[in-house]
Amino acid sequence: MSPPRADGFVHLEDYAPPAWRIPHAELAFDLEREATVVEATLRLEPDPGQPGHAVVLDGEELELLDIEADGAPLPADRWDYDGRHLRIDGFASAFTLRTRARIRPADNTRLEGLYTSGPLLLTQCEAEGFRRITFFADRPDVMPTWRIVLRADRAAFPVLLANGNPAGTRELDGGRHEATWENPHPTPCYLFAIAAGQLRRVTHTLRTAEGREVELNVWAQGDDVVRCHYALGAVERALRWDEQRFGRCYDLEVFNVVAAQDFTMGAMENKGLNIFNARYILADEESATDEDFLAIESVVAHEYLHNWSGNRVTLRDWFQLSLKEGLTVFRDTEFSADLHSRALKRIEVVRLLRARQFAEDAGALAHAVRPDRYREISNFYTLTIYEKGAEVVRVLQALVGEEAFRAGMDRYFADNDGRAATIEDFLAAHAAASGSDLSDFARWYAQAGTPELWITADYDEASGDYTLQVDQHTPPTPGQAHKEALPMPLRFVLFAPDGGVIDAAPETDAPALPGGGVALTQATHVLRWRGLRARPLPAFNQGFAAPVKLRFEYDAADLAALARFESDPFNRWDLLQRLASGALLHTLDPEQATVALGDALGALLDDDAADPAFVAECLALPDFDTLAEACDVVDVDELVARRESLLDRLAEEHVERLQRRYESLAAAAGDGLTAPAMAARALRNACLAWLTRLDPEATLAQAQFATATTMTARLGALRCLVHFEAPGAAAALAEFRTRWAADPLVTDKWIACLASRPHPDTLDDIGELLASSWWLPTNPNRVRAVVGTFSRANPLGFHRRDGAGYRFVAAQVEKLDGINPQVAARLLGAFETWRKLAEPLRHQARLALASLQGRLHSGDTRDLLQRLLD
Ligand code: PHE
Ligand code: ZN
Repeated sequence: MSPPRADGFVHLEDYAPPAWRIPHAELAFDLEREATVVEATLRLEPDPGQPGHAVVLDGEELELLDIEADGAPLPADRWDYDGRHLRIDGFASAFTLRTRARIRPADNTRLEGLYTSGPLLLTQCEAEGFRRITFFADRPDVMPTWRIVLRADRAAFPVLLANGNPAGTRELDGGRHEATWENPHPTPCYLFAIAAGQLRRVTHTLRTAEGREVELNVWAQGDDVVRCHYALGAVERALRWDEQRFGRCYDLEVFNVVAAQDFTMGAMENKGLNIFNARYILADEESATDEDFLAIESVVAHEYLHNWSGNRVTLRDWFQLSLKEGLTVFRDTEFSADLHSRALKRIEVVRLLRARQFAEDAGALAHAVRPDRYREISNFYTLTIYEKGAEVVRVLQALVGEEAFRAGMDRYFADNDGRAATIEDFLAAHAAASGSDLSDFARWYAQAGTPELWITADYDEASGDYTLQVDQHTPPTPGQAHKEALPMPLRFVLFAPDGGVIDAAPETDAPALPGGGVALTQATHVLRWRGLRARPLPAFNQGFAAPVKLRFEYDAADLAALARFESDPFNRWDLLQRLASGALLHTLDPEQATVALGDALGALLDDDAADPAFVAECLALPDFDTLAEACDVVDVDELVARRESLLDRLAEEHVERLQRRYESLAAAAGDGLTAPAMAARALRNACLAWLTRLDPEATLAQAQFATATTMTARLGALRCLVHFEAPGAAAALAEFRTRWAADPLVTDKWIACLASRPHPDTLDDIGELLASSWWLPTNPNRVRAVVGTFSRANPLGFHRRDGAGYRFVAAQVEKLDGINPQVAARLLGAFETWRKLAEPLRHQARLALASLQGRLHSGDTRDLLQRLLD
């Protein structure tokens, strides 16, 4: 990769391959919390195609102790270290470099490089953390094989883990011991990892489809190990699924997973040694909700699946980030859909896209799935890279068909195994396997913004001819005024007035698709049916096949009718979401839409044959973010007030139905992680929230809290009590707090519950929290539970009219910037759509952001602030 230009940005078009390669690396660590010494022995080979370059290695906050080349000390005039780069001159052919450097794990609050988490020593290297461990070419296209030696005090660090396969242990003098690991797969340094400390494990041995015996281990501290069984099962399920669904086997003798209480992101796919935020590992029914279990399974799968999409085939440079992340989200989503309900998984994904990714794509931080420049790569671990990237892969699958898609994946893995690949390599494999021209498809990676489909209908009574005109349009985004049409699937069904499906295929120039529907390849297409007896009612985008905003002139009666006719469960849910949005945003007649929505929900609540989990999804109206995203100007108080009054009215209308369902599901909602039990708990919690609005005493919620046997039921009740400020709320909070005081993950739950209480006064509670011993600014989970929840899930608090919510978050960003810049930068994301706020909020948000100018020190936060204010 190339250095930044004078403009401060690294540019995609400046990419140059490494002038020096590192085919093999050996690292030896003398591990200690305060000061660890790292000895690196690197084989360096010049690229014969680019002779004459000095060796330039990255290195940050390293104290260089020794430097040798081919066994002899390197004279001082041959090298220079300026605190960021180590430059070595005078070599024209291969040589072996040995450096020794000292690093300070206990002082490392950034949690990048080698750091301490409680008594553990851990690493996090993606994207550019390895340079904080030793001197190296910290770029993903340098891929040595590795030998890693760890030495440490045996009592403090009995377990010593690194990437690859175990290659021996021995005792050393002075109560120390040593473990050696070998990773035979060419692996970039961002996938390097070690973990050391008093870890305990759950373990399971299996044989892969290729016949390799593999030991799976999930490690945690002390008693936490008893909460690792579910994650261990998830590893095995992911491993088997990748064998069956993608023909990919695991490739080492061990697969280790470690749970860490201090971790900036969700989890990390280091080769053979995944390191996880403990919240995505530790679970039992006492302490984790059903949502937690599903999230754990999907994150465990995500990291496991990276072993092929990311590790065996890695990235040429960080611009290609979505090549591993979008693809791996696509894969983990398919995994969850195959194991559980495909429709419910789709609903979950689309909720996230609409609430968060669409907003990102329309706001100040919008960027393409493959950006063409960045100042700070850490700021590109975004919903666009991950979730939209996954949608783009899904669109590709829809366009070429499932069979050709699988063949394309096989070809991609085969052609790029052991290589650092690009999005072009991915598309080339799919083009070859499917025989399609994907040059227009590549625009999905280059163009930011959510595409819109505007569909207009015309019906000619006399002839019975019906036409649909489909116009595609993507709004401008920062730096990208002009947009081109993107190829995508259009799925549709025409219904006759009686609800029967009209089977006839339309006349159109849009090519038919393997799985049904047509491919939109131009900005405009026309579909024409002849001689229909009555004006049909069309439904579109079944399963959300294309990640677009779709506009069609429905009225409330149309949507209600379609919600009855439609057999696609995703669309049935989506039609009700549209009714609700229409009622709230007044894009439909609000009264008609409310009545239609009420009728539809009543029918669903009466339908004991419907999946309760699905009914619960339908009761969950579009959230604040989704509604705000659909507005040009956001009046926060008005939007929240409308949503609350719609909920009040619907709850009153259905109070008996809600009570009946709540009670009738009591037995089914007992313990156990079966799908029916989880579905029953989901619908009971949804009913409880609606019923609690109507009952100032919150009798049901108090009873559910008192008798709960699962965290799902307990937390569902606690939320109702706290959010509706019900009697018993303070007592329940106090009880919950005391009972789980020793458990940081469960503590985060009550804190998030408090921080999301929908009231401007919540800021006072947060002030108290920050003054208490619960506030742990060095722990990313705790920061997110307090500040992240407040800024992202509490519109009435964050968007207080006096601007105090904005000032609070800005002040925290400034403080946290000195502790963990990535955590601080993520908090700034809450301001991404500040320009859409109605006054006086817009002015207040600008003031809060402007107050940070000149006060931020990290590249992460400065980059974001500048993009927000530009
Ligand atoms: N690559 C990790 C994942 O799967 C995310 C991550 C990025 C973790 C950067 C740590 C640092 O998705
Ligand atoms: Zn990932």
